[in-house]
Amino acid sequence: MIQIAPSLLAADFGCLAEEINKIELAGAHLHHVDVMDGMFVPNISFGPVVIEAIAQAAKKPLDIHLMIEKPERYLADYLKFKPKYLTVHFEATTELANVVATIREAGSGVGLSIKPDTPVAAIIPWLDKIDLLLVMSVEPGFGGQKFQPQAIEKISEAKAYIEEHDLQVKIEVDGGIDAITSPQVIAAGAEILVAGSAIYSQSSYAIAIEKIIG
Ligand code: DX5
Ligand code: ZN
Repeated sequence: MIQIAPSLLAADFGCLAEEINKIELAGAHLHHVDVMDGMFVPNISFGPVVIEAIAQAAKKPLDIHLMIEKPERYLADYLKFKPKYLTVHFEATTELANVVATIREAGSGVGLSIKPDTPVAAIIPWLDKIDLLLVMSVEPGFGGQKFQPQAIEKISEAKAYIEEHDLQVKIEVDGGIDAITSPQVIAAGAEILVAGSAIYSQSSYAIAIEKIIG
């Protein structure tokens, strides 16, 4: 089953609890939560204080995407929300083995993300140790960017390896996902689709979600 994880980055923060309620009624499976530190990416979003409010309002699980340098410094601050997945960037840490172990011990799913220029080959040794591979289809940092089609090939490559080795890793894709790009990434093997602007900019979230994962 294909799952949709609307990105709260594109929601109206003036009425966050209402947005969370609306998107759940519209069929969201997970809430994608984008944490940006102004170092790993050239933008700052929000951190644990705002996620506390999100966690209070949400009934559906959280899918936290840490776009932060040296995520090992802050894992506990996010694991306390018991996210379904806590995802770090391959490019952001030299402590990946410890990061993976810490997330796993806390009982959350281990997510690993790669930027558009990072090849799948770089994370192959980690695929049997994680639960989620997040393939970025834009440079991380901002919502509303154009989908980069080379992500399709990367998803296919990762999917082929996962099937060949009978691994349980799910592939998630993030960036520029809409009704046009979703069939392409689903055909390539993505099972969890993140979409921000294509959902939250629409008057009916349910129709927007239906168009993406139909
Ligand atoms: C980008 C974030 C995305 C972003 C997606 O750095 O990781 O999750 O919110 O936004 P759209 O769907 O608008 O590309
Ligand atoms: Zn994201």
